[in-house]
Amino acid sequence: MPSTALDSAPWRATWDEVMTGFVPGLPSLEDVIACAARDPRRILDLGGGPGVFAERLAARWPSAQVTMIDIDPVLLALARDGVPPAVSVLEADLCDALPAGFDLITAVMTVHYLRPERIRALYRRCRQALTLGGLLVIADLMPDDGLPSVMDALNPAPGEAAAELAWAQWWGEVAEAPEFAQLMADRADIFRHRPPANFAGSVSWHVAAARSAGFREAGVVWRDGRHAALVAV
Ligand SMILES: C[S@@+](CC[C@H](N)C(=O)[O-])C[C@H]1O[C@@H](n2cnc3c(N)ncnc32)[C@H](O)[C@@H]1O
Repeated sequence: MPSTALDSAPWRATWDEVMTGFVPGLPSLEDVIACAARDPRRILDLGGGPGVFAERLAARWPSAQVTMIDIDPVLLALARDGVPPAVSVLEADLCDALPAGFDLITAVMTVHYLRPERIRALYRRCRQALTLGGLLVIADLMPDDGLPSVMDALNPAPGEAAAELAWAQWWGEVAEAPEFAQLMADRADIFRHRPPANFAGSVSWHVAAARSAGFREAGVVWRDGRHAALVAV
């Protein structure tokens, strides 16, 4: 529980700005998902953070039940305070079992936290958690196979350094706010054993992982610089 009362609104608003700094085209991804997933009744958002994306999914499909999963106590507290009643917030590790029966599963800027073998296992569990014909959408840092990685390293996307700075500042401000003191200590305990892998698999890596998890079709449907979204059916 937060040490003092939590007003999630400004924190969630600035989080959204930080995420859009990393991926300026993020709003257009929502339209792409809406075209691919016609009328999902149950939606699962993996690594939903403070629930901003889950809230948008709930607004887009008002009759859907949206569930988001995360492990970070700070972000879970912001989500619990801020999401509308249509969104359920679950505390869980993506490396453990997932709930089942979803028509759409999304993971936005999340899977790079996991090591490659854990991403493969997650894709297998996602397939089991989806209804027949359900969609898995993974959006993350996903370099194009055609772009040599050395060039990629030499040419960071414009605005990437500013986004990294904004991310560090956001967490710095959270660390200084008394209402997050206990949650930040809990967070440190959790991530001590789960350092982010920062794995940026290429498009073909993710497509192969999805196919070997049992998805029949998988391909890129959206790209914004070094970020892309894969849909697996
Ligand atoms: C960069 S954030 C993206 C959050 C959100 N998807 C968004 O777009 O705003 C990555 C999220 O993945 C979550 N995450 C990382 N590893 C996780 C794990 N093993 N289990 C559950 N969530 C995890 C983090 O706590 C964080 O909220």
